[in-house]
Amino acid sequence: MSTIDNKAVLSFTDGTPSLEMPVYKGTIGPDVIDIRALYNKTGKFTYDPGFLSTAACNSTITYIDGDKGELLYRGYPIEQLAVNCDFLEVAHLLWNGELPNQAQKNEFVNHVTRHTMVHEQMSRFFQGFRRDAHPMAVMVGTVGALSAFYHDSLDISDAHHREVSAIRLIAKLPTLVAMTYKYTIGQPFVYPRNDLSYAGNFMHMMFSNPCEAYKVNDVLVRAMDRIFILHADHEQNASTSTVRLSGSSGANPFACIAAGIACLWGPAHGGANEACLNMLEELQANGGEAKLGEFIAKVKDKNSGVKLMGFGHRVYKNYDPRAKLMRETCHEVLEVLGLQNDPLFKLAMALEKVALEDDYFVSRKLYPNVDYYSGIVQRAIGIPVPLFTAIFALARTVGWIAQWNEMISDTEQKIGRPRQLYKGAALRTVLPIGKR
Ligand code: CMC
Repeated sequence: MSTIDNKAVLSFTDGTPSLEMPVYKGTIGPDVIDIRALYNKTGKFTYDPGFLSTAACNSTITYIDGDKGELLYRGYPIEQLAVNCDFLEVAHLLWNGELPNQAQKNEFVNHVTRHTMVHEQMSRFFQGFRRDAHPMAVMVGTVGALSAFYHDSLDISDAHHREVSAIRLIAKLPTLVAMTYKYTIGQPFVYPRNDLSYAGNFMHMMFSNPCEAYKVNDVLVRAMDRIFILHADHEQNASTSTVRLSGSSGANPFACIAAGIACLWGPAHGGANEACLNMLEELQANGGEAKLGEFIAKVKDKNSGVKLMGFGHRVYKNYDPRAKLMRETCHEVLEVLGLQNDPLFKLAMALEKVALEDDYFVSRKLYPNVDYYSGIVQRAIGIPVPLFTAIFALARTVGWIAQWNEMISDTEQKIGRPRQLYKGAALRTVLPIGKR
């Protein structure tokens, strides 16, 4: 725990004695007030729906400065990692705390590639799903099912078991996402190729078939890898908190990651990239740029229920740094594919410009987030829209499992158990059914 820097004093108007509480300083970022003694000393809880002012844990993994628009993994800015590292180096960083040197990288890559295949019986799980099932439904089921196959690494008190489970998850998620896609389109599953890079192998499993190999395009593989890096971790967001909360009960890591995937599915979280592309396509079909004013008016009308998907963030009150990098990747990918005039990209840029000049968005500090451009990149690469969130889950698995491991190793960790402000009926008596 960080050192105590100063104290906070909480006083009450109802006669409860005031309470002095320690304040801790992190390396960077806001100080935190330690309220753990509050209930014992005063009989009162804090009230913070949505955790707007609550730090639920200590962490050394990821730091976000929402006002500056800064994102650091283990202290390194995302802009530097995205340019200088590949995804498995970033995974090593998130899991181990340090970027690997060449020998460490070789060893890590070797570990991951040795685990890329899934148990052959896993393929039978897919047969149980309808072909039109949403990929995230299939992912929740199949990732949860991994716990039934890898009993030899489920002792969460054993650091080696935790590492083997982490490597398995990092290695097998691309295989499961690709199997999910192949099942949907009725093609045979494609086995992993361990001579390819992490992103290259994923694209091979996605796009090759027994009749035709996937011709690796370096720019597209690099774009896929960048999508993975940008989505790898994001501090204590809803799905990461879900993984931590699930893990706090001692549940196994595969089950915890399945819980994270379920949470990520929501349109306010990982589902936003899919929702954003659907929004752009609908807008395009209904008149495109000519109708932007009408659309923005609808977004601003609170009764319309329409949001500008891919805009806004709980933490970023400035341009999401990942969105900047994604916009850059978008340019590169569309250029290499000869799609510079892609109407959806043009529409997205026009919509962004209109929004960034509109007082509604300016006054609320609403900027594009990572999901705004990632859908256009993925669509250009050939990834079908419903698979976008599954790819987010693939990448975020690295962050989830690192956060899970940090929580299990934390001596202050307890089972997560929030309390509530109860507003239901007070004590009452059950009447016999004839008298109700
Ligand atoms: N379009 C229109 N208005 C918005 C939007 C938006 N995308 N986002 C926020 N607002 C308004 C909101 O209505 C509120 O207005 P008012 O003050 O008049 O009531 C104000 O801005 C503050 O928003 P909030 O809902 O209190 O902010 P939040 O921190 O609870 O929500 C959010 C953050 C990401 C859920 C929200 O901005 C949103 O729904 N965005 C669209 C979905 C999206 O792109 N999600 C991806 C997030 S990044 C990837 C990830 O983390 O998974």
